[in-house]
Amino acid sequence: MYTQSFSVSDEPGKQQKAVLSTESPELMARFDARIDADGRIEPQDWMPEAYRKTLVRQISQHAHSEIVGMLPEGNWISRAPSLKRKAILIAKVQDEGGHGLYLYSAAETLGTSRDQMLDGLHSGKAKYSSIFNYPTLNWADVGVIGWLVDGAAIMNQVPLCRCSYGPYARAMVRVCKEESFHQRQGYEGLLVMMQGTEEQKAMVQDAVNRWWWKCLAMFGPPDADSPNSAQGMRWGIKRVSNDDLRQKFIDATVPQAKVLGVTLPDPDLKWNEERGHHDYGQIDWSEFWDTVNGNGPCNKERLSTRVKAHNDGAWVREAAIAHARKQQQRQIKEAA
Ligand code: 3HC
Repeated sequence: MYTQSFSVSDEPGKQQKAVLSTESPELMARFDARIDADGRIEPQDWMPEAYRKTLVRQISQHAHSEIVGMLPEGNWISRAPSLKRKAILIAKVQDEGGHGLYLYSAAETLGTSRDQMLDGLHSGKAKYSSIFNYPTLNWADVGVIGWLVDGAAIMNQVPLCRCSYGPYARAMVRVCKEESFHQRQGYEGLLVMMQGTEEQKAMVQDAVNRWWWKCLAMFGPPDADSPNSAQGMRWGIKRVSNDDLRQKFIDATVPQAKVLGVTLPDPDLKWNEERGHHDYGQIDWSEFWDTVNGNGPCNKERLSTRVKAHNDGAWVREAAIAHARKQQQRQIKEAA
């Protein structure tokens, strides 16, 4: 079901037969030449199995991040401080759901069904971004997620618009436009709070203090400890390394924090004239890996909420399938 470009079986093992082809040196050379010329690979093109697997791995992680990312902010829809803020938040959370759908569709063009990917997520095997395993404790967290989390996501995703795999690159163009709106609404919400009471200002600072380091970890492990980066960059899937994106994000965010009137919780954060970048302190990588491996503060809660939502929605999927079957039967009857 759900497949957009060609039919993919949901039975494990079966779908691979449809997409596997022999890895001959000529095909490999043609593929390498296209990558070297900065060309695009499309679903109907031959591609090495390792390229396909890398893309499915990254797109699956990305799609799940969008879907699980709806949960921490979704918690605040019923508690938004005004109708305007509620309407903005509902639209934003809905956008994230849409991003997940574009990405599941992009992965389907590689021969992996949405059901397979969701099974991976729900069984705890598939990864999603570490950032969504932290709690949203006050209303300022919603603004900070927009400003910093979506800001970090944009920094990572703008280069993905030039990814060598066409469907992923094209999905990213729209995702980045929407993420840019998300980032601005978050920043604007915080600007309003920073013009408010002392209590509101303290809420913003508290939220920034809690999210800052987690956002820096979002970019993934340091380049030297990133097992997938070198090959991902060789294939033009990733265009900028984890550390370079992290540095760009820090350099862009420091002046924004100044305008907002908050401090960033890092005593080692300072401009380095020689490097032309900000130096920054040590990220807690053991906490990052604990969270990635399922032991963050909210991993279990996020997964159980997600599984419950999926199970509760079974009747919608069944109704859609029944409707599609009925329509198909009607068309066959009319054509006969
Ligand atoms: N959270 C969870 N897992 C992470 C992670 C993070 N922040 N950063 C890295 N990892 C995982 C990787 O997925 C990889 O796992 P695997 O080998 O088991 O698949 C492992 O840690 C090693 O990391 P690498 O640096 O070698 O992995 P990659 O080369 O794939 O780079 C990445 C990691 C930069 C996250 C890359 O996958 C990427 O750019 N992904 C697409 C963007 C994305 O996933 N964004 C999610 C952010 S949130 C979001 O988009 C939602 C928005 O609404 C805010």
